[in-house]
Amino acid sequence: MKRGPIGIFDSGLGGLTVVKAIQRDLPQERLVYFGDTARIPYGTKSPDTIVRYSKQIVRFLLKTEKVKAVVVACNTSSAWALKAMRETFKVPILGVIEPGARAAVEVTRNGRIGVIGTEGTIQSEAYPDMILRLMPTARVFSRACPLFVPLAEEGKLTGIIAEEVAKEYLKPLLKDKIDTLLLGCTHYPLLKKTIAKVVGPKVRIVDSADETARVLRTNLETYGVELSGPGSAKYYVSDLSRKFKVNAQRFLGSPIGQVDKVFIEKY
Ligand code: DGL
Repeated sequence: MKRGPIGIFDSGLGGLTVVKAIQRDLPQERLVYFGDTARIPYGTKSPDTIVRYSKQIVRFLLKTEKVKAVVVACNTSSAWALKAMRETFKVPILGVIEPGARAAVEVTRNGRIGVIGTEGTIQSEAYPDMILRLMPTARVFSRACPLFVPLAEEGKLTGIIAEEVAKEYLKPLLKDKIDTLLLGCTHYPLLKKTIAKVVGPKVRIVDSADETARVLRTNLETYGVELSGPGSAKYYVSDLSRKFKVNAQRFLGSPIGQVDKVFIEKY
């Protein structure tokens, strides 16, 4: 168990941004990714459903791949299901909320932090709760940006449509005088250029993918697990659509290797 691969999962392919960050920080690790492409989006679903889906995926990763640790790359799942997963499974499970919140708190100077994510993540208040635990004097301004996910999926990352959508969502946060913006969704790092253009150079943008990879690297010892090596990645999804490879490459930044389809409802 302790020398198995690290499992990483997301509601779809967005979590490949986290895989990319982990591969950069832990190139020697064996990684197994599961993307729930048949059931995305999680961002609009109820907490009960998110918990059920998340547990099925961890069960699959444990049973099939004997993973030694799990990284929940999905913000919505981290927000709603982390506690339930930790109560159910013995394997160490790392979500993206705490690393992202920690990074935002380290970066802010005026203590005014903007958080953007799916409707589910924002509704859960997981980010403000964590930020305030780490920095009780902080002011957190949250906003759901549901149109960012389809924009990223369609590859509309820059240009007039993306900019107009970003302005609509982010202008109110600028009025709140935020100096830090936390991207609390797997898909948003793809829109970073557009987001940066809209918020301007004075707002620091924090990405939970990078921070999660860093926390994973520092925590591996505490988890009591060993490097599995040699570095490799294996990919599973619950649905293989026609556009799958193009989308995966967009999030991963390089062509994806072999991908297997899993009937996840079985777990
Ligand atoms: N992976 C989700 C997240 O980070 C975004 C996509 C979805 O709604 O499932 O919250």
